Amino acid sequence: MKQIVSFDQYRREYERSIQDPEDFWAEVAADYQWSRKWDTVLDWNFTEPSIKWFEGGYCNLAENCLDRHLDKRGEQVAIIWEPNESSEAYRTLTYRELHEQTCRFANVLKKLGVKKGDRVCIYLPMIPEAAVAMLACARIGAIHSVVFAGFSATSLVNRMNDSECSLLITADAVFRGKKKIELKKIADEALEQTPSIKHCIVYNHRNTEINFDEGRDHWWYDLMREESSEHAAEPMEAEAPLFILYTSGSTGKPKGLLHTTGGYMVFAGYTFSNVFNYREEEVFFCTADVGWVTGHTYLVYGPLLNGATTVMFEGIPTYPDHGRFWEVVDKHQVNIFYTAPTAIRSLETYGTEIFQTKKLDSLRILGTVGEPINEEAWQWYHEYVGKKKCPIVDTWWQTETGGILISPIATVTPLKPSFATFPLPGIQPVLLDGSGKEIEGNGVSGYLCLRFPWPGMARTIYSDHTHFRQTYFSAYKGYYFTGDGCKKDEEGYYRITGRIDDVINVSGHRIGTGEIEDVIDEHQVVVESAVVGYPHDIKGQGLYAFVICNETALTDDKLRLEIQSLVAEKIGAFARPDKIQIVPGLPKTRSGKIMRRILRKIAEGDTSNLGDTSTLLDPAIVDRIKESAL
Ligand code: WT7
Repeated sequence: MKQIVSFDQYRREYERSIQDPEDFWAEVAADYQWSRKWDTVLDWNFTEPSIKWFEGGYCNLAENCLDRHLDKRGEQVAIIWEPNESSEAYRTLTYRELHEQTCRFANVLKKLGVKKGDRVCIYLPMIPEAAVAMLACARIGAIHSVVFAGFSATSLVNRMNDSECSLLITADAVFRGKKKIELKKIADEALEQTPSIKHCIVYNHRNTEINFDEGRDHWWYDLMREESSEHAAEPMEAEAPLFILYTSGSTGKPKGLLHTTGGYMVFAGYTFSNVFNYREEEVFFCTADVGWVTGHTYLVYGPLLNGATTVMFEGIPTYPDHGRFWEVVDKHQVNIFYTAPTAIRSLETYGTEIFQTKKLDSLRILGTVGEPINEEAWQWYHEYVGKKKCPIVDTWWQTETGGILISPIATVTPLKPSFATFPLPGIQPVLLDGSGKEIEGNGVSGYLCLRFPWPGMARTIYSDHTHFRQTYFSAYKGYYFTGDGCKKDEEGYYRITGRIDDVINVSGHRIGTGEIEDVIDEHQVVVESAVVGYPHDIKGQGLYAFVICNETALTDDKLRLEIQSLVAEKIGAFARPDKIQIVPGLPKTRSGKIMRRILRKIAEGDTSNLGDTSTLLDPAIVDRIKESAL
């Protein structure tokens, strides 16, 4: 794959990609194996919206990730699996072994009646079988929907039902740090409410006793043993659905973003190769879970498309101690390390002594993703992890974008701490003002939008195209609206400043305020609630809930605990509010809209200037909330 190696070359490529996008992407796409070449590179409009890349072309993503490499690197390690316990042996799978497993599992899925276009839910911990399951789906043309194993039974139910999955793949249990999560138990609870699920495949990971429904459940190994390791990959239309991934928006219900085959493949491979300046035989370690888009694109697909060795780590950064990431880096001689700012900030609090016992000399490139990185964390990462010699790529993108859009290109782009720097070739960002006018020039700020499609973008929200249009293409006609605010400095460097909608980024996890409010409101003494974000030293943003209750016998503390466990039970522990304030009312306009701006200020502890409150139905409520703010 052609790589950008100088900043001048970047500028030229960028120019060319804007002048003639079709020619540019056709050239990138030619690096892959297509069983039939495309007729048209791009057909699009942002009004319906309708986005089609490489129409008429046929390819298979799994084949491009695996079969394509067998001759040259069949014996090279594709996945290094690092277990939760550092004392336990790690596992490796070569490209040949991963190919064999994937083929076997593809045959398993077919045997169980899974067909092209069927939805398969994957609820697995960070084990190679998660990658095998994803690749096997891609291989037969089934649509995978990976649900992060930290989600609750209710979240799992909602996701499986929304896309009517016919099969679920899970494991008995997993340890994350010292905590045991009994996945099958959670799955069993979920499966009581998911009529579309016909089969459940269970991977025995920790020899935990489980309930086994003979008619529905199957052991992974029993099925695999019986299948052949030969399977011819199904040629897929470029626009055939590849996966669904749920993410939070400002409204209550998570949205199932749908990504398609050809464009996603081209974009994942291209961005991985260029952003990380990936070189043959290097070891890449992305700490994200496969349950998030980062895990999809930069733990599994991007690295495998490039024939890389990818590290999959099951545990957490602080177990058995806060040096675990660095131990893994030294142990597997990791060259490129990609993590979230929240992980860096949390490790920063333990001090730097740990680095005396770690070498970290294999590292060449560092990356961050998921939220804005503050300058202090950037400097710490640069100095202690990168030893001041590794470039840091601050990569901005979203579940919707499929891959990185704005980021430095490692070793190429001159860096600026806390700036995502410049758009990658093919990416056309614009800043808009409130009225939807493009703000040109440098030294400006506005709403970040894209005016032209790129191959990796989501095509729709599963079974709800109207919602897709309304969420991303209606705020500003003719643009894809990201929901992020952005600044461009005097030199044209982009800095993403954070969400401008009701989405909160907690430790790199995206959570919709509406989603949490819906759960809180389910509590029997709660009348109404409003959740906002506030700056949090480690998590980036914390969750602050304002709650109105009817007369209650509960103490405030008891109520807080109940609300917290309700959220953990219905969504997942990561969505638990950090602060819960019981309030007599919420600041509402005469039309009944909650003025979140005011609540955000109170949550931030900045009540000196709350702006204009005269349009409130009851301005006095603001003082009462202020008085008891936490
Ligand atoms: C939101 C998308 C992209 C994979 C992980 C998150 C924020 C993401 C950055 C960055 C500042 C960032 C944005 C974006 N975000 N990367 N480098 N700098 N903010 O995916 O869960 O879909 O969240 O994460 O606010 O909109 P996601």
